[in-house]
Amino acid sequence: MLSKENSVVSPSLSITTKWEKPPGSGEILAGFLAPHPPHLVYGENPSQNRPKSQGGWDTLRWGYQRCREKIKALKPDVILVHSPHWQTVVGHHFLRVPKLSGLSVDPIFPHLFQYEFEMSVDVELADACAEAAIEQGLLVKQMTNPNFRVDYGTIVSLHMLNPDWDIPILGISAHNSPYYFSHDDAQDQMIKLGQATRQAIEKTGRRAVLAASNTLSHLHFDREPALPEDMSQEHIYNFEQYQWDMKIIELLKQGRWDEFQRMFPEFIEKTAAEIKAGSLMWMLSAMNFPAVEAQVHAYGPVIGTGNAVMEWDLQACRSSKPHAEGRL
Ligand SMILES: [Fe+2]
Repeated sequence: MLSKENSVVSPSLSITTKWEKPPGSGEILAGFLAPHPPHLVYGENPSQNRPKSQGGWDTLRWGYQRCREKIKALKPDVILVHSPHWQTVVGHHFLRVPKLSGLSVDPIFPHLFQYEFEMSVDVELADACAEAAIEQGLLVKQMTNPNFRVDYGTIVSLHMLNPDWDIPILGISAHNSPYYFSHDDAQDQMIKLGQATRQAIEKTGRRAVLAASNTLSHLHFDREPALPEDMSQEHIYNFEQYQWDMKIIELLKQGRWDEFQRMFPEFIEKTAAEIKAGSLMWMLSAMNFPAVEAQVHAYGPVIGTGNAVMEWDLQACRSSKPHAEGRL
Protein backbone atom coordinates (compact mmCIF):
# COMPACT_ATOMS: atom_id res chain seq x y z
CA MET A 1 0.00 0.00 0.00
CA LEU A 2 1.32 3.45 -0.81
CA SER A 3 1.68 5.32 2.43
CA LYS A 4 -0.03 8.67 2.79
CA GLU A 5 3.15 10.67 3.11
CA ASN A 6 4.32 9.24 -0.20
CA SER A 7 1.18 10.15 -2.13
CA VAL A 8 1.84 12.13 -5.27
CA VAL A 9 -0.09 15.36 -4.97
CA SER A 10 2.03 17.76 -6.93
CA PRO A 11 3.86 17.61 -10.22
CA SER A 12 7.11 18.63 -8.60
CA LEU A 13 7.31 15.86 -6.00
CA SER A 14 10.31 13.61 -5.78
CA ILE A 15 9.10 10.55 -3.87
CA THR A 16 10.15 7.14 -2.70
CA THR A 17 7.41 4.55 -2.56
CA LYS A 18 6.95 1.13 -0.99
CA TRP A 19 4.64 -1.29 -2.75
CA GLU A 20 2.78 -4.37 -1.56
CA LYS A 21 3.97 -6.53 -4.41
CA PRO A 22 7.64 -7.16 -5.24
CA PRO A 23 9.06 -4.93 -7.97
CA GLY A 24 9.46 -6.30 -11.44
CA SER A 25 6.62 -8.82 -11.30
CA GLY A 26 4.03 -6.82 -13.22
CA GLU A 27 3.30 -7.12 -16.92
CA ILE A 28 1.07 -5.86 -19.69
CA LEU A 29 -1.07 -8.78 -20.80
CA ALA A 30 -2.70 -7.22 -23.83
CA GLY A 31 -3.54 -3.94 -25.49
CA PHE A 32 -6.71 -2.99 -27.31
CA LEU A 33 -7.51 -0.27 -29.80
CA ALA A 34 -10.89 0.57 -28.32
CA PRO A 35 -12.80 3.33 -30.14
CA HIS A 36 -15.43 5.18 -28.17
CA PRO A 37 -18.35 6.38 -30.32
CA PRO A 38 -21.25 6.62 -27.83
CA HIS A 39 -23.40 4.94 -30.48
CA LEU A 40 -21.90 1.59 -29.48
CA VAL A 41 -23.22 1.85 -25.93
CA TYR A 42 -26.50 3.28 -27.22
CA GLY A 43 -26.85 0.33 -29.61
CA GLU A 44 -26.31 -2.14 -26.78
CA ASN A 45 -28.96 -0.77 -24.41
CA PRO A 46 -27.20 -1.38 -21.07
CA SER A 47 -29.17 -0.50 -17.95
CA GLN A 48 -26.74 2.36 -17.17
CA ASN A 49 -27.59 4.32 -20.33
CA ARG A 50 -30.84 6.27 -20.27
CA PRO A 51 -31.51 6.63 -24.04
CA LYS A 52 -32.75 3.39 -25.58
CA SER A 53 -32.24 2.11 -29.13
CA GLN A 54 -33.30 -0.60 -31.53
CA GLY A 55 -29.69 -1.77 -31.88
CA GLY A 56 -27.20 -0.82 -34.58
CA TRP A 57 -23.43 -0.87 -35.27
CA ASP A 58 -23.52 -4.62 -34.68
CA THR A 59 -20.22 -5.51 -36.35
CA LEU A 60 -18.26 -3.28 -34.01
CA ARG A 61 -20.20 -4.52 -31.02
CA TRP A 62 -19.56 -8.14 -31.99
CA GLY A 63 -15.87 -7.33 -32.17
CA TYR A 64 -15.97 -5.90 -28.67
CA GLN A 65 -17.74 -9.04 -27.42
CA ARG A 66 -14.74 -11.10 -28.49
CA CYS A 67 -12.46 -8.71 -26.59
CA ARG A 68 -14.60 -9.12 -23.48
CA GLU A 69 -14.13 -12.86 -23.58
CA LYS A 70 -10.37 -12.45 -23.88
CA ILE A 71 -10.24 -10.03 -20.97
CA LYS A 72 -12.35 -12.32 -18.78
CA ALA A 73 -9.90 -15.13 -19.50
CA LEU A 74 -6.86 -12.97 -18.76
CA LYS A 75 -8.21 -11.91 -15.32
CA PRO A 76 -6.20 -8.65 -15.21
CA ASP A 77 -5.77 -6.58 -12.04
CA VAL A 78 -6.52 -3.35 -13.88
CA ILE A 79 -7.55 -1.85 -17.21
CA LEU A 80 -5.82 1.42 -18.13
CA VAL A 81 -7.43 3.71 -20.65
CA HIS A 82 -6.13 6.85 -22.34
CA SER A 83 -8.99 9.03 -23.60
CA PRO A 84 -8.94 11.98 -26.06
CA HIS A 85 -12.06 13.38 -24.43
CA TRP A 86 -10.49 14.00 -21.07
CA GLN A 87 -8.46 16.92 -22.38
CA THR A 88 -5.98 18.55 -20.04
CA VAL A 89 -4.08 21.58 -21.27
CA VAL A 90 -1.51 21.55 -18.46
CA GLY A 91 0.09 18.15 -18.09
CA HIS A 92 -0.91 14.49 -18.08
CA HIS A 93 -3.52 13.71 -15.43
CA PHE A 94 -4.36 10.40 -13.74
CA LEU A 95 -7.62 9.53 -12.03
CA ARG A 96 -6.86 9.29 -8.32
CA VAL A 97 -10.16 8.79 -6.52
CA PRO A 98 -10.78 5.23 -5.28
CA LYS A 99 -14.48 5.23 -6.20
CA LEU A 100 -16.10 7.44 -8.81
CA SER A 101 -19.76 7.60 -9.75
CA GLY A 102 -22.16 9.97 -11.43
CA LEU A 103 -23.84 10.77 -14.71
CA SER A 104 -21.76 11.28 -17.85
CA VAL A 105 -23.40 12.93 -20.85
CA ASP A 106 -21.88 13.21 -24.31
CA PRO A 107 -22.06 16.92 -25.21
CA ILE A 108 -22.38 16.16 -28.94
CA PHE A 109 -24.79 13.23 -28.70
CA PRO A 110 -26.74 13.78 -25.45
CA HIS A 111 -29.71 11.98 -27.01
CA LEU A 112 -27.56 8.83 -27.30
CA PHE A 113 -25.39 8.84 -24.19
CA GLN A 114 -26.45 9.65 -20.64
CA TYR A 115 -24.60 7.02 -18.66
CA GLU A 116 -24.72 6.41 -14.91
CA PHE A 117 -21.19 5.31 -14.19
CA GLU A 118 -19.66 3.64 -11.16
CA MET A 119 -16.02 2.56 -11.14
CA SER A 120 -13.14 1.55 -8.90
CA VAL A 121 -9.83 3.25 -9.59
CA ASP A 122 -6.40 1.73 -8.95
CA VAL A 123 -4.97 4.71 -7.07
CA GLU A 124 -1.74 2.93 -6.16
CA LEU A 125 -1.02 2.46 -9.82
CA ALA A 126 -1.98 6.08 -10.43
CA ASP A 127 0.71 7.11 -7.94
CA ALA A 128 3.27 4.84 -9.54
CA CYS A 129 2.45 6.14 -13.03
CA ALA A 130 2.72 9.73 -11.83
CA GLU A 131 6.05 9.05 -10.18
CA ALA A 132 7.44 7.34 -13.28
CA ALA A 133 6.14 10.08 -15.57
CA ILE A 134 7.79 12.75 -13.43
CA GLU A 135 11.05 10.84 -13.72
CA GLN A 136 10.58 10.97 -17.51
CA GLY A 137 10.40 14.75 -17.26
CA LEU A 138 6.68 15.01 -17.94
CA LEU A 139 4.33 17.46 -16.29
CA VAL A 140 1.88 15.43 -14.21
CA LYS A 141 -1.14 15.97 -11.99
CA GLN A 142 -3.39 13.66 -10.02
CA MET A 143 -7.16 14.11 -10.35
CA THR A 144 -8.47 13.99 -6.77
CA ASN A 145 -11.90 15.63 -7.14
CA PRO A 146 -14.41 13.08 -5.75
CA ASN A 147 -17.19 14.61 -7.87
CA PHE A 148 -15.25 14.45 -11.12
CA ARG A 149 -17.45 13.67 -14.12
CA VAL A 150 -15.64 11.01 -16.11
CA ASP A 151 -15.64 11.68 -19.86
CA TYR A 152 -17.61 9.56 -22.30
CA GLY A 153 -14.48 8.40 -24.14
CA THR A 154 -13.15 6.71 -21.01
CA ILE A 155 -16.54 5.24 -20.17
CA VAL A 156 -17.46 3.93 -23.63
CA SER A 157 -14.15 2.14 -24.13
CA LEU A 158 -14.27 0.62 -20.66
CA HIS A 159 -17.93 -0.37 -20.93
CA MET A 160 -17.39 -2.02 -24.30
CA LEU A 161 -14.37 -3.97 -22.99
CA ASN A 162 -15.84 -4.89 -19.61
CA PRO A 163 -19.53 -4.04 -19.11
CA ASP A 164 -19.49 -5.76 -15.72
CA TRP A 165 -17.12 -3.07 -14.35
CA ASP A 166 -15.68 -5.69 -12.00
CA ILE A 167 -12.04 -4.85 -12.76
CA PRO A 168 -10.40 -1.69 -11.34
CA ILE A 169 -9.47 0.92 -13.90
CA LEU A 170 -7.01 3.76 -14.32
CA GLY A 171 -7.98 6.68 -16.54
CA ILE A 172 -5.31 8.88 -18.14
CA SER A 173 -6.02 12.25 -19.68
CA ALA A 174 -5.04 13.48 -23.13
CA HIS A 175 -2.58 16.27 -22.49
CA ASN A 176 -3.39 18.51 -25.41
CA SER A 177 0.17 18.78 -26.59
CA PRO A 178 -0.64 17.23 -30.01
CA TYR A 179 -2.75 20.29 -30.78
CA TYR A 180 -0.31 22.90 -29.49
CA PHE A 181 3.13 21.50 -30.27
CA SER A 182 4.81 20.02 -33.31
CA HIS A 183 3.98 16.47 -34.30
CA ASP A 184 7.33 15.12 -33.14
CA ASP A 185 7.27 16.90 -29.78
CA ALA A 186 3.71 15.79 -29.16
CA GLN A 187 4.31 12.15 -29.95
CA ASP A 188 7.54 12.19 -27.92
CA GLN A 189 5.39 13.08 -24.93
CA MET A 190 3.19 10.06 -25.55
CA ILE A 191 6.16 7.75 -25.98
CA LYS A 192 7.54 8.89 -22.63
CA LEU A 193 4.12 8.50 -21.02
CA GLY A 194 3.92 4.96 -22.39
CA GLN A 195 7.36 4.11 -21.02
CA ALA A 196 6.39 5.51 -17.63
CA THR A 197 3.18 3.49 -17.66
CA ARG A 198 5.05 0.26 -18.38
CA GLN A 199 7.58 0.96 -15.62
CA ALA A 200 4.77 1.64 -13.14
CA ILE A 201 2.94 -1.56 -14.06
CA GLU A 202 6.11 -3.60 -13.62
CA LYS A 203 7.02 -1.88 -10.38
CA THR A 204 3.64 -2.40 -8.76
CA GLY A 205 3.28 -5.99 -9.92
CA ARG A 206 0.08 -5.33 -11.81
CA ARG A 207 -1.20 -7.66 -14.52
CA ALA A 208 -2.60 -4.98 -16.78
CA VAL A 209 -4.68 -4.55 -19.91
CA LEU A 210 -4.35 -1.32 -21.90
CA ALA A 211 -6.98 0.46 -23.96
CA ALA A 212 -6.31 3.22 -26.50
CA SER A 213 -9.62 5.03 -26.87
CA ASN A 214 -9.20 6.21 -30.48
CA THR A 215 -11.16 6.26 -33.69
CA LEU A 216 -9.06 6.13 -36.89
CA SER A 217 -10.35 8.33 -39.76
CA HIS A 218 -12.44 11.03 -38.14
CA LEU A 219 -14.26 12.92 -40.89
CA HIS A 220 -17.92 12.60 -40.05
CA PHE A 221 -21.33 13.65 -41.30
CA ASP A 222 -22.90 16.72 -39.70
CA ARG A 223 -26.43 15.33 -39.98
CA GLU A 224 -27.72 12.07 -38.60
CA PRO A 225 -30.74 10.05 -39.73
CA ALA A 226 -34.05 10.57 -37.97
CA LEU A 227 -33.39 7.17 -36.44
CA PRO A 228 -29.68 7.21 -35.52
CA GLU A 229 -29.47 3.41 -35.54
CA ASP A 230 -30.84 3.14 -39.10
CA MET A 231 -27.95 1.14 -40.49
CA SER A 232 -29.13 1.60 -44.08
CA GLN A 233 -27.76 5.16 -43.69
CA GLU A 234 -24.41 4.29 -42.12
CA HIS A 235 -21.23 4.18 -44.19
CA ILE A 236 -17.67 5.42 -44.16
CA TYR A 237 -17.30 9.12 -45.01
CA ASN A 238 -15.73 8.47 -48.41
CA PHE A 239 -13.59 5.94 -50.23
CA GLU A 240 -10.34 7.80 -49.57
CA GLN A 241 -10.92 7.66 -45.82
CA TYR A 242 -11.60 3.94 -46.08
CA GLN A 243 -8.38 3.42 -48.02
CA TRP A 244 -6.36 5.32 -45.41
CA ASP A 245 -7.88 3.25 -42.63
CA MET A 246 -7.03 0.03 -44.41
CA LYS A 247 -3.42 1.16 -44.92
CA ILE A 248 -2.90 2.07 -41.29
CA ILE A 249 -4.67 -1.06 -40.00
CA GLU A 250 -2.38 -3.23 -42.12
CA LEU A 251 0.73 -1.55 -40.69
CA LEU A 252 -0.58 -1.85 -37.16
CA LYS A 253 -1.60 -5.44 -37.70
CA GLN A 254 1.82 -6.46 -38.95
CA GLY A 255 3.82 -4.31 -36.53
CA ARG A 256 5.58 -2.49 -39.37
CA TRP A 257 6.58 0.34 -37.05
CA ASP A 258 9.05 2.15 -39.33
CA GLU A 259 6.44 2.50 -42.07
CA PHE A 260 3.85 3.41 -39.45
CA GLN A 261 6.11 6.21 -38.25
CA ARG A 262 6.52 7.58 -41.76
CA MET A 263 2.81 7.41 -42.55
CA PHE A 264 1.49 8.58 -39.17
CA PRO A 265 1.64 12.39 -39.79
CA GLU A 266 0.10 12.16 -43.26
CA PHE A 267 -2.63 9.83 -42.02
CA ILE A 268 -3.54 12.37 -39.33
CA GLU A 269 -3.52 15.22 -41.83
CA LYS A 270 -5.63 13.44 -44.48
CA THR A 271 -8.21 11.90 -42.15
CA ALA A 272 -8.29 14.20 -39.09
CA ALA A 273 -7.49 10.98 -37.26
CA GLU A 274 -8.26 10.94 -33.57
CA ILE A 275 -4.99 9.12 -32.88
CA LYS A 276 -3.48 12.62 -32.99
CA ALA A 277 -4.57 12.88 -29.36
CA GLY A 278 -1.92 10.32 -28.49
CA SER A 279 -3.83 7.37 -27.05
CA LEU A 280 -2.57 4.88 -29.62
CA MET A 281 1.04 6.09 -29.41
CA TRP A 282 0.89 5.88 -25.61
CA MET A 283 -0.29 2.29 -25.79
CA LEU A 284 2.20 1.20 -28.45
CA SER A 285 5.04 2.72 -26.43
CA ALA A 286 3.83 1.05 -23.23
CA MET A 287 3.82 -2.26 -25.12
CA ASN A 288 7.32 -1.46 -26.42
CA PHE A 289 6.16 -1.55 -30.05
CA PRO A 290 5.67 -5.29 -29.94
CA ALA A 291 6.78 -7.76 -32.56
CA VAL A 292 3.40 -9.44 -32.60
CA GLU A 293 0.64 -9.61 -35.19
CA ALA A 294 -2.40 -7.75 -33.98
CA GLN A 295 -5.86 -9.21 -34.34
CA VAL A 296 -8.52 -7.09 -36.01
CA HIS A 297 -11.78 -7.92 -34.28
CA ALA A 298 -13.91 -5.43 -36.21
CA TYR A 299 -13.91 -2.42 -38.49
CA GLY A 300 -16.91 -0.24 -39.11
CA PRO A 301 -18.25 3.29 -39.59
CA VAL A 302 -20.01 5.41 -37.00
CA ILE A 303 -21.62 8.53 -38.45
CA GLY A 304 -18.95 8.30 -41.14
CA THR A 305 -15.84 7.83 -38.95
CA GLY A 306 -13.62 4.75 -39.27
CA ASN A 307 -13.37 2.54 -36.21
CA ALA A 308 -11.21 -0.53 -35.69
CA VAL A 309 -11.33 -2.82 -32.67
CA MET A 310 -7.89 -4.43 -32.45
CA GLU A 311 -5.98 -6.57 -29.99
CA TRP A 312 -2.29 -7.12 -29.29
CA ASP A 313 -1.94 -10.32 -27.28
CA LEU A 314 1.41 -9.84 -25.55
CA GLN A 315 1.21 -13.05 -23.58
CA ALA A 316 1.25 -14.99 -26.83
CA CYS A 317 4.48 -13.32 -27.91
CA ARG A 318 6.17 -12.99 -24.54
CA SER A 319 9.10 -15.05 -25.73
CA SER A 320 9.58 -12.96 -28.88
CA LYS A 321 12.38 -10.44 -28.99
CA PRO A 322 11.08 -6.92 -28.30
CA HIS A 323 11.40 -4.10 -30.80
CA ALA A 324 13.80 -1.26 -30.18
CA GLU A 325 13.20 0.33 -26.82
CA GLY A 326 10.36 2.79 -26.65
CA ARG A 327 10.92 4.59 -29.91
CA LEU A 328 9.51 4.15 -33.37
FE1 LIG B 1 -13.90 10.86 -29.96
